[in-house]
Amino acid sequence: MHNWHEEQFTRPSPVRVAPRRFVLATLTTHPIAPPKRSDSKWMMGDASRYFDDPISFLKESVQLAPVMSMRLGYVSFYLVNDPDIAQYVLQKKNANYLKEPHLMSVIEAGGDENLFTTDGEEWLWRRRMMQPAFHRKQIAQLGDAIADETRQMLATWQAGQQVGMVEAMKLLTMYVIGRTMYNVDFKTDINGLHDAYRTMAETIGKRLQRTIPLPYWLPTTENRAYTAALETIRATLTPIIEARRYSTEPQYDLLDMLLAAKLENSNKQFTDTELIAEMSAIVFAGHETTAVTLTWIFALLAKHPEVEAKLLAEFDRVLDGRDPTMADVPNLTYTTQVIDETLRLYPPAFATSRHAAAADQLGDYAIEAKKAVLINIIGMQNNPRYWDAPEQFNPDRFAPEKAKERHKYLFMPFLNGPRKCIGEPLARSEMAIILPMILRRFRLTLPSPQTTLAHDVRFVMEPRGAMTMLLSDR
Ligand code: HEM
Repeated sequence: MHNWHEEQFTRPSPVRVAPRRFVLATLTTHPIAPPKRSDSKWMMGDASRYFDDPISFLKESVQLAPVMSMRLGYVSFYLVNDPDIAQYVLQKKNANYLKEPHLMSVIEAGGDENLFTTDGEEWLWRRRMMQPAFHRKQIAQLGDAIADETRQMLATWQAGQQVGMVEAMKLLTMYVIGRTMYNVDFKTDINGLHDAYRTMAETIGKRLQRTIPLPYWLPTTENRAYTAALETIRATLTPIIEARRYSTEPQYDLLDMLLAAKLENSNKQFTDTELIAEMSAIVFAGHETTAVTLTWIFALLAKHPEVEAKLLAEFDRVLDGRDPTMADVPNLTYTTQVIDETLRLYPPAFATSRHAAAADQLGDYAIEAKKAVLINIIGMQNNPRYWDAPEQFNPDRFAPEKAKERHKYLFMPFLNGPRKCIGEPLARSEMAIILPMILRRFRLTLPSPQTTLAHDVRFVMEPRGAMTMLLSDR
């Protein structure tokens, strides 16, 4: 493990770990309680600093200690800043670190459990049942659908137009999920569906930020909007399930797999409510994350013309004027580096939480049972101990030969271990197909080269505002 105590910080932070109150604690041999930040407050702990800007909070904290104690109001938990310890939690001892019940209850509210929210046997059989829909061989057949949706979007774009990239990419990635996972065209229902998922993401984000939870049955504007959003999602997905039940043609997609699935040790199949929860979780987890990553890429390229030029040269070399297919994706190596570097700086899932079932020891630190553990993904991906000039956008750091030296749990925008993102191969191929199609047709510019790229945190970390960009012909 990295020696945290001897090394000088490259970029000193004004925040330090708080001195221990009792001499005894420092004299005791291992394990010891994790330290807290020196600016942690008596009443609210780290709540105001964290909620003010969770991203800077996490980037600062990662430099302080491998594991820290954190408190948001009355909720206290541990922050994991070290890749070895992250690996221990997510892989080696993963049976002790389950999905965090508070987060899962917020996500499941009004719906049902799904692959994302379950644990243990219940999770494993779902994962095994759904995995074939995401195998490389299966994904290989989805390139045409992705290219076709992108072509349809491009047909509505013209030079001189200003496009809100966040919305445009969310629509495109939602159409892609509809086509690739359920073989349906979401365009007819798109306005309602798009708004419903936005309401869902915003409400979950707000509910997670509350230190004192409000009951979901209270007839507040927020709760009513959330219930209406769930109803829209149900109303859109139910006819898709019904139509497929009566279809005689197998589609070999995720929906066929979900419909055929038999629950473990019984002949019981998913009920419609369970099916909708699973389908909806895929739409939710799969479209926004990919859309915001694409948006960040366009914005970063507009600010880094030298990277854009290298990318365009790769498109020319590999594609020779054609639209990309799945077969081209492995050859778009610099494109992959640009995607990785963007995900390093702006991981949509900037942190993830787990719940310690039993008391344990993380590195030198004792942790209590029944407490949450937050894995500092964005912090580790931007820690100056491991990354030269981490604030700079530099896709060369992801050159293939460098990957071997890197700790697998230091860079994990899709997570690592058994719970890693099931959609990673789809998301990566999708982005590698969409990027050349858009960038070879249009140059996208920001209002000014000085435009700063600000973030917001709702459920995922996303660009602040619409990220409006101007299209001009290549
Ligand atoms: C750039 C795009 C994406 C990013 C950054 C991303 C990130 C992640 C991360 C970090 C996790 C782990 C969450 C946790 O356990 O704490 C995850 C899980 C998951 N993702 Fe993705 N994801 C992306 C795209 C997709 C796509 C396209 C799909 C589906 C089509 C998808 C479906 C899922 C599902 C179902 C899980 C839960 C897996 C399990 O627990 O077994 N994701 N994703």
